[in-house]
Amino acid sequence: MDSTRCVGRVKHLSLLLCLVGSLLLQPSASEAAFPDARNPPPEGWEGPVFKLSQRYPRSLPRISNPPWLRFDFANSAEAPQYMNAVLNYCLQGNTATNFADVSRNPVRKWYHAPWLHSGSAGREFIHGLTRERPSREGELGPLHVTDRVQNWAVGFYNSRGGYTIGRVWADEANPDPSKAKFPLHTVSCKLIFTAAPLAEVPYLEGTLEWEADINRAANAGPRPVLRLLQLDVAVRDPRADFTTGWVLGTFQYQKDASASSDWWRHLVPVGMMWGNDAPRVLISQPPQEQWINTNRDPQLHLGLRGLLNGPIDNPRSSCIACHGLAQTAMVEDAEPSLPRVPNANASAATLQRYLRNIESGEAYSPDYVSLDYSLQLQVGISNFLEAREMDAGPTGVAPESRTGERGPRRTRAILRDDD
Ligand code: HEC
Repeated sequence: MDSTRCVGRVKHLSLLLCLVGSLLLQPSASEAAFPDARNPPPEGWEGPVFKLSQRYPRSLPRISNPPWLRFDFANSAEAPQYMNAVLNYCLQGNTATNFADVSRNPVRKWYHAPWLHSGSAGREFIHGLTRERPSREGELGPLHVTDRVQNWAVGFYNSRGGYTIGRVWADEANPDPSKAKFPLHTVSCKLIFTAAPLAEVPYLEGTLEWEADINRAANAGPRPVLRLLQLDVAVRDPRADFTTGWVLGTFQYQKDASASSDWWRHLVPVGMMWGNDAPRVLISQPPQEQWINTNRDPQLHLGLRGLLNGPIDNPRSSCIACHGLAQTAMVEDAEPSLPRVPNANASAATLQRYLRNIESGEAYSPDYVSLDYSLQLQVGISNFLEAREMDAGPTGVAPESRTGERGPRRTRAILRDDD
């Protein structure tokens, strides 16, 4: 409610109630605390402008009958139905506007994680996209010849996830990683776009196209059109507690999947996973803590040892491996250091370490606090601490760290393009 609307009210009581109501509904300082994007739109810009959805719920939102719970993800006959139920949940109320403002979705609101605006990969101003791992020549199909083609993405959480993000960032000058435990039925979805020319990825014809300020054009400079290639989902599902507590899945756009002119009807599951199945995969057994759709076309690469990864992802990683390392250090020189994506001749011990199934909320070691599979929280906190270090002045000591309080130390941010 806008307080100017109260002016027309005649009776004193209704004027008072109206003013009180509008004050209660005003965003508080913390609700508008975080920047939307790395750069503001240039003067005269008339296109869409990204707004960070940051009015995080203050109490845990109820969720009734999550539709994917009707299906057993571990049963290969029901796995595609599970994935489609999650996909529909992400799409509902968002397709009419092509995800223009997820905070105004009439079916259910979605929330963005803060502090992904800073740095060279930071959110661009049109759609809030952040830079992802670039695709190497050939990774996007037989016609793909441009090496290191750029990919950009934007992700959001449902209200249960938004509640947790709000708790971690309740004090915008002091994020609290100990609050990063997502409630059951948290869902996150992420749209990933590629800058690959259509001629190299012809299966993307008809997909969602977004103009994006990926060249940080100060004014009229070129802002390329990107195409939706991949859509990622993550679900906190109690039935996955025996491995990790999370089910991560991904879809790819396929022109020939449908005759519909609706881009979202062309999304085909690539697969989903709820564990890395080590050490089984180390003795070259096929992973069982996942389901892969062998009918997808094109069949682009998966991840390490046949584990699930999406078309734009690193073929030597997996969704669960990379996300389990969403952790923040609580001490200087935390031990052990978080493993990186293993190289081609990594030893079995290194692979086992990388593929360890980490439970929801489980700290990597006593030196860490878990961020419960949220790499957006991890990157955001890391960006925030980096900015604070830069503000620390000539002594290099930021005011907060002088107090000697035990607070998060900067963990090298896990990036999707880690190699
Ligand atoms: C090598 C690392 C890596 C791999 C592999 C990876 N991701 Fe991520 N993912 C990231 C990073 C970093 C972010 C946060 C930054 C961002 O959103 O751009 C992220 C963000 C997300 C998000 C948004 C919420 C969150 O958890 O932060 C989802 C959902 C997601 N990824 C799903 C997946 C799925 C599904 C796969 C496998 C198909 C996958 N990811 C593979 C690194 C990875």
